[in-house]
Amino acid sequence: MIRTPQAFVPYLLALAMIAAGILWRAAPLEPRLGGIQSEGIAAIGGPFSLVDQNGTRRRAGDFRGRFLLVYFGYSFCPDVCPTALAAMADALDKLPKAQRIVPVFVTVDPERDSPRVLKAYLNAFGPRFVGLTGDVKSVAAAARAYRVFYRKHPLAGGGYAMDHSSVIYLMGPDGRYLAHYDASIGSDALANALRKQL
Ligand code: NI
Repeated sequence: MIRTPQAFVPYLLALAMIAAGILWRAAPLEPRLGGIQSEGIAAIGGPFSLVDQNGTRRRAGDFRGRFLLVYFGYSFCPDVCPTALAAMADALDKLPKAQRIVPVFVTVDPERDSPRVLKAYLNAFGPRFVGLTGDVKSVAAAARAYRVFYRKHPLAGGGYAMDHSSVIYLMGPDGRYLAHYDASIGSDALANALRKQL
């Protein structure tokens, strides 16, 4: 029988898929992080495009040259978020080089956390914080980049809370991940940890 060239297409496709599979396995899974961190967590962070509490668009690149202390949460959070934000604010108050660090609060509840809501909320934690929100997709992309989990949690009496991971990330002036801290670390321990990184 005579095979038309089209008859080979499925075989070529199968070969290409096998080759791609081999290359994918051979490639390093994550870019090297320069040996800065030791927990084996790779490639945390990355580009984002969100809006701050003053309505200004902010991208990851806008912060190059400064350390970022990043926490994801939401302003309606009853306890975990305020504790984390207070620890971040207090830790920075203890550091003489605090102006090198920008504390950033990224909401996981963009439907309620408008720039205006974030502005009022963050006032309670001093003037340093940058609050970030955006459309649902942009917030999801930022959370994904930081490996942050969150989920809407309906409340019995109506409304909802957000379940969310509670981790404080320290990013370097080059935008790369340096360290992370459990949000229950407390301000003294956080200040000491940050002092070693500056
Ligand atoms: Ni919270």
